[in-house]
Amino acid sequence: MVVANRLPVDVTLGEDGEPTWTRSPGGLVTALEPVMQNADGAWVGWGGSPDLELDPFDADGMRLVPVPLSERELEDYYEGFSNDTLWPLYHDVIEPPQFHRQWWESYRKVNWRFATAAAEQAAHGATVWVHDYQLQLVPAMLRQLRADVRIGYFHHIPFPALEIFAQLPWRKQVVEGLLGADLIGFQRAGDASNFVRVVRRFTDLTTRGQVVTITKHGKVERHVRAAAFPISIDSKKFDALARTPEVQQRAKEIRTELGDPKVLLLGCDRLDYTKGIRHRIKAYGELLEDERLSVADTTLVQIASPSRENVGAYQQLRDDVELLVGRINGDYGELGHAAIHYMHHSYPMEEMAALYLAADVMLVTALRDGMNLVAKEYVAARSDDRGCLVLSEFTGAADELTGAILVNPHDIAGLKDAITYAVHLDPREARKRMRRLRKRVLENDVALWSESFLAVLTAVPVRGESGT
Ligand code: G6P
Repeated sequence: MVVANRLPVDVTLGEDGEPTWTRSPGGLVTALEPVMQNADGAWVGWGGSPDLELDPFDADGMRLVPVPLSERELEDYYEGFSNDTLWPLYHDVIEPPQFHRQWWESYRKVNWRFATAAAEQAAHGATVWVHDYQLQLVPAMLRQLRADVRIGYFHHIPFPALEIFAQLPWRKQVVEGLLGADLIGFQRAGDASNFVRVVRRFTDLTTRGQVVTITKHGKVERHVRAAAFPISIDSKKFDALARTPEVQQRAKEIRTELGDPKVLLLGCDRLDYTKGIRHRIKAYGELLEDERLSVADTTLVQIASPSRENVGAYQQLRDDVELLVGRINGDYGELGHAAIHYMHHSYPMEEMAALYLAADVMLVTALRDGMNLVAKEYVAARSDDRGCLVLSEFTGAADELTGAILVNPHDIAGLKDAITYAVHLDPREARKRMRRLRKRVLENDVALWSESFLAVLTAVPVRGESGT
């Protein structure tokens, strides 16, 4: 059973009262959907609209169990504590986190609701896999309700350094919540060791390497393991999609529609301040200003999919990005040659694959990112071994994707040099890099990720099994 804040679909009720659904956004759903489509389990999560009380239903080959959230809970638990406290705190305080006691109370209450829903649905001895920062209290709550289940937790975003995490007024409760799991997975080895440092600092438990020992009345009760399991995508499916004649044809059309630029640069992100969109656009604008690039032969396509639009920092980001795009287009655009094609929408997978195939250079310049699956999708789409990936060293993907051109997005001069280098990269060198990238992404797909996590988790004995 999967327990995550969101279901893989956003449900809305039509005028006739019948539910209709669309795929929900973000890396978590991208990664978990193929895993669950091939498994015989249920997915517990919120349906994407407030006050939606729905019975469990089947969609896309999955059993979905909706958890309702009220308008107020969306404000306090989701927009507030999850996305205005934890999200900025865990992403190295790029924006200042807001701490409000009322948000924390709502977070606790909603986590309890998710734990209860999971406890009601899980079969005896089930393996329950809880996901991400919105539900960090669920492992301990679920253990309290159901001692017979195995509990795994995967943290999709970065786990910050002790000195940053220490700011959280409820740090001890969060650590204890996570320690309800048998296995806690992180994207990078550095995240796992940050977590273990936090355990040592804020609990009295003993740790050995990345294993924490839980004791009760002086007796060892169980062990909790923390480890890195870098997430991935359904690489083969993406590769196959990008090879279809429809997608190949669409990639050509995209270039034609853009006026056949010599160089097509692409950025593609949720509109989030962690993604470094402002830094990327600034660097590009300066390259036009310095005349190291020109709109006569270069275009930047920036897809920014709408995200968390009720949170102030996201509204501010949208204003900043749109002001910047408008200025650069005003300063450097010509009739028929926009400097930047900016789109504030989401696109289906097929269109994304075509965009990746059409793009000469993919720009992933996140200031901090747990993994960044867009980088992996770009690589998986390039079965022609062409294209070039410029990748921030502050993404989890940078640990694996060594064939990319790595950048520090805070260093605008360095970022400009990296973009220029990518644009002029010798095709043989580009091909060599892309082959290396593709080998890595195709071998390490999301199935391997979930299998490795679940293999460690299911090896944990549950209560009632011999030896426990
Ligand atoms: C990231 C998080 C996910 C989240 C997604 C979309 O990938 O790790 O937990 O679901 O962003 O954000 P949203 O707030 O729309 O669910």
